[in-house]
Amino acid sequence: MSDIKLNLGCGERKFPGFINVDKFGTPDVKHDLESFPWPWESNTVSEIALIHVLEHLGKDTEIYFGIFKEIYRVCKHEAKVRIVVPHFRHEFFYDDPTHVRVVTPLGLKLFSKKQNKLWIKNGAANSPLGLYLNIDFELKQTVIKPSQDWFRLHPEQNVDINLLQQKSAIYNNLIEQYDMQLEVIKDN
Ligand SMILES: C[S@@+](CC[C@H](N)C(=O)[O-])C[C@H]1O[C@@H](n2cnc3c(N)ncnc32)[C@H](O)[C@@H]1O
Repeated sequence: MSDIKLNLGCGERKFPGFINVDKFGTPDVKHDLESFPWPWESNTVSEIALIHVLEHLGKDTEIYFGIFKEIYRVCKHEAKVRIVVPHFRHEFFYDDPTHVRVVTPLGLKLFSKKQNKLWIKNGAANSPLGLYLNIDFELKQTVIKPSQDWFRLHPEQNVDINLLQQKSAIYNNLIEQYDMQLEVIKDN
């Protein structure tokens, strides 16, 4: 049975054991990720890495949805999808003119059917995108990377994550990036 791992938007950082994909350079597979369908069969992929890539994709919302529909289609049940992006309130996000899309943990939770059903039951207004697009991802983990500015203000090694999140809701440049892990749900 095929067990494919994809490093999408690999740039110059190719991962051993993965198919490294990019629209530029000399990847294993040259493909524009905004062009559909992607060149892999349905239910063949067990792991996907998008390391500092998703913020470059899907300026057009339908294209962004198309990317998540393709990730869902090619993945097997319980496949892991790692998404690393700059924090939308850090200047790294604004420095690069090819950054066109903000990606947040809550934004990824919109693709969870379980969350969608809970929000509908509780009368919440969050867009139930998992149900609308018929895709299903669970956000399993979010690691937030404090910035150098944070450590200048709080040099202690043990980071108070709650304080960091509270302050980052008000001030810029405190969180550098989100590192998020999704799991693909196909058993319902
Ligand atoms: C910031 S670099 C990150 C590269 C690598 N993942 C890393 O961590 O070093 C973003 C990469 O996404 C690729 N990329 C941007 N838009 C793309 C698209 N539509 N299809 C495929 N690759 C794309 C770029 O060519 C670039 O190599």
